Amino acid sequence: MCGIIGYCGPKPMGEVLLEGLKRMEYRGYDSAGIAVRSNAEITVIKRAGKIATLREAVQGELEGDCGIGHTRWATHGGVTDENAHPHLDAAGKVAIVHNGIIENYSVLREKLAAEGVEFASETDSEVIAHLIAKLYDGNLAAAVQQVVQLLKGTYGIAVTHIDEPGVLVGARNGSPLVLGVGEQEMFLASDVTAILGHTKQAIYLEDGEIVTITADDYRTTDLQSRKVDKHIQIINWELEEIEKGGYRHFMEKEIFEQPESILRAMQGRLDHEYATGHLGGLNMSKKELLDLERVKIIAAGTSFYAGLVASYLIESIARIPCTVELAAEVRYRNPIVERNSIYFAISQSGETADTLYAMRELQRKGARVLGICNVVGATIPRESDGGVYIHSGPEIAVASTKAFTSQLTALYVFTLLIARMRHMSYEAGMMFVQALEEVPDQVAKVLNLAPAIAEIAHKYHEARNFLFLGRGINYPVAFEGALKLKEISYIHAEGYSAAEVKHGPIALISPDTPSLFLVPDDALREKVISNMKEVKARNGQVIAVCVEDDHEVAALADDVIMVPRVHELMYPFVMTIPLQLFAYYTALELGRDVDQPRNLAKSVTVE
Ligand code: M6R
Repeated sequence: MCGIIGYCGPKPMGEVLLEGLKRMEYRGYDSAGIAVRSNAEITVIKRAGKIATLREAVQGELEGDCGIGHTRWATHGGVTDENAHPHLDAAGKVAIVHNGIIENYSVLREKLAAEGVEFASETDSEVIAHLIAKLYDGNLAAAVQQVVQLLKGTYGIAVTHIDEPGVLVGARNGSPLVLGVGEQEMFLASDVTAILGHTKQAIYLEDGEIVTITADDYRTTDLQSRKVDKHIQIINWELEEIEKGGYRHFMEKEIFEQPESILRAMQGRLDHEYATGHLGGLNMSKKELLDLERVKIIAAGTSFYAGLVASYLIESIARIPCTVELAAEVRYRNPIVERNSIYFAISQSGETADTLYAMRELQRKGARVLGICNVVGATIPRESDGGVYIHSGPEIAVASTKAFTSQLTALYVFTLLIARMRHMSYEAGMMFVQALEEVPDQVAKVLNLAPAIAEIAHKYHEARNFLFLGRGINYPVAFEGALKLKEISYIHAEGYSAAEVKHGPIALISPDTPSLFLVPDDALREKVISNMKEVKARNGQVIAVCVEDDHEVAALADDVIMVPRVHELMYPFVMTIPLQLFAYYTALELGRDVDQPRNLAKSVTVE
């Protein structure tokens, strides 16, 4: 989605802004631009397309005392140079960048047009620049404060004015904005990755706050100009973590990081003495955990599938009913909040609008919502009633990989905790702890299969349709595998319960539509083998992911990926990795833009 960078300080302005934009490329965008304020003018350079195109358009070094930059993911108006941000007012005195959507922009635009204002773009954002110019009376922060009160919708904005040297003003409502505090330099950004190369000191703005920065000072206020004291937080990510470190793509790096990221998600959370889990951030008393009658999960995309896996686990070993819903559906169905229930809002980014708004709706109705998030300080963890950080480290590739297995890890620890308070014995708890602790090593073994999986991807990369089939706790893994393949290779893929195929999808089976079966050695293995035979009988090609030495499955399948034998509840971890690698290598074969697939954004901050 869109990205904002703003800078006040002595470093070369163009370079800082372009570097910040480059660091946010992963979020997904289709145009980019910068505006630099100097005593002569505000220079705006913006282009549809990649940042490389913008960089070419920036001739030489841009001199200035402050500047703003933006990556745009088109919502209102096509992908054109004119619609790219920053936007200027008619006199070229104010430049703004905006993330979010101004819902009442057409009313505001009509009024401004009636007053003679000419618009240069089709965007909702441009009205902000014209309104600030109109209300400016020698104090930029005051003008911004008045204007944001006229806006309906969501915004994170950064603004500069020709009459205010070295000053930037930012404001937020529903779209993240962070202030980076450096040595004689200050930053504004929508995403800490944009500033991590310069400072690790961050202040997260809340909705309804306005910040004014200069190179050596900042001031935060509310919409009534009252000063708001903010705490500096230290960003706990290292610069190397947001670089490729020798890998071809961030996705490849993130897939291979999983032995460590899974380990980090469980570290300090497994209690060997009592064979249970420990999650301090839940903010729930022992009594509240004991009284728990229902677990509900809301999420989108990959996080939703992690929730689905967890629902099988929670019901099977904690014996508590667990339902999982797409967050986008929750908000508008007037959800019923039941007593003694908790909700988990799962979100890697912690900023997904569908999940955030569903969470707020549930909280309004009295629900206790716990976040399972990766990005520290993001909106969902800040507004939730408690939760768990998964500590995956930055996930840069649009396709989520390591966050999925870390979300699973956190949910497995939670399930152990509540299962041990109910029916689970000490012995069963201890077996579960040991099985979970073995997962990082087993995942490392699966990663060694990468070359063989690359060959299978080579064989099948021309298929235009794929089915991913699993059962039980691995049924959601099939969905996740299909999602990975379609988002980065653009091959149409569907996940189904292997049992469901005969109820319709079997009509798709032909030599051109391969099926990938997940066949762990669990209670449903025989059933899945029968489903495989049904597909083979109709000349379907089959790739099977099964356990090592499963010769029966190997004999049936056209191609086979053999993973280590694990505790039957741990298969979602070892079955997911081959699907991530298969999607990655297929996308490579097809020459796709693996880290930034078309039309997609890393963090989806619009509904
Ligand atoms: O940041 P979130 O976990 O809330 O994101 C949810 C989805 O947008 C995300 O998982 C998306 O489906 C990924 N591109 C999947 O790889």
